[in-house]
Amino acid sequence: MQAREWVDNRDAASQVAEKTGRTKRLAPDSDGVAEAAAILRQGGLVAFPTETVYGLGADATNGQAVARIFEAKGRPSFNPLIVHVADLEMAERIGKLPKPARNLVSNDWPAGLSVVVPLKPDAGISELVTAGQNTVALRCPKSPIALELLRVLSRPIAAPSANVSGKISPTIADHVLNGLDGRIDAVVDGGPTVSGLESTIVGFATATPQILREGTFVDLPEDWSRFTQATDRPVAPGQLASHYAPKASVRLNAQAAATGEFLLGFGPVQGDLTLSASGDLVEAAARLYAALHEADARDVRRLAVAPIPETGLGRAINDRLRRAAAPRD
Ligand code: TXA
Ligand code: MG
Repeated sequence: MQAREWVDNRDAASQVAEKTGRTKRLAPDSDGVAEAAAILRQGGLVAFPTETVYGLGADATNGQAVARIFEAKGRPSFNPLIVHVADLEMAERIGKLPKPARNLVSNDWPAGLSVVVPLKPDAGISELVTAGQNTVALRCPKSPIALELLRVLSRPIAAPSANVSGKISPTIADHVLNGLDGRIDAVVDGGPTVSGLESTIVGFATATPQILREGTFVDLPEDWSRFTQATDRPVAPGQLASHYAPKASVRLNAQAAATGEFLLGFGPVQGDLTLSASGDLVEAAARLYAALHEADARDVRRLAVAPIPETGLGRAINDRLRRAAAPRD
């Protein structure tokens, strides 16, 4: 099959016509960020780019604002949310960082890493954020826009991925608007995110650290236990079997497209869209969700995906693809 040209998502933001809903598209400059912070301060909802995916932010100290996140996403239950912080100091006002957590984040918080730690009783975080648990997920984003927003607001921001519940995480502002236009106040349009995959979540609330969700940060000890199996009662909703679902059915490890299938290529397997022709996992991760969105936009019914090696970022990519391939409820 003839490979179609990869649609560069850097152009997509400007090519797509303005949406008609009430959601404002803000520029990623200081005016845009100031307006975003003002909306958050008043209890509104603003989507913004992080280095992983776009987050749907609310003031984490404002319970009503946080409740609107669940309403906007149509989330079926109050799963706990990641709290985004401006720096280590803000993190330590909210959570108690055990030594191994502190070792990971204290110099320079790595890109795409969230840590689950015991919540400080006087942290002032809405109980909806932690789902009433005594732990909290913390993450200091790397994207300059997200950091500037946190600094201007000087409050922690609770933010799940800015997609309708059960849909694919957004990596450009138009993905956000496709699902949430008119349901949120604004989106800061900072173009495509760098990694394109959610953060890795590591739990430090237990005696030994546990990897709760595979994701962008991959530099973790091999001997830490991995809790990424689909379960009935997930600790993290990313653990739901069919959480990252495109409209199409998904077949994995495809060397070629069968009749009627749309193929996502990788390395030597050339597809209708190719995640990375050179077999680069970082490039593939950054393109994965955009490719799934693209398949949805083209009304693809049957999606086949080339084999992706189970190493480094490939582990997180395969984890997402297995969920996309899982039977739907
Ligand atoms: O990259 C990311 O992590 C993005 C950006 C926006 O930061 N956020 C994101 O959030 O993916 P969300 O809500 O789609 O997934 C957050 C995950 C959920 O699976 C949730 O259950 C888990 O974090 N989580 C949050 N607090 C937790 C806690 N106290 N214990 C265990 N898991 C927690
Ligand atoms: Mg999500």
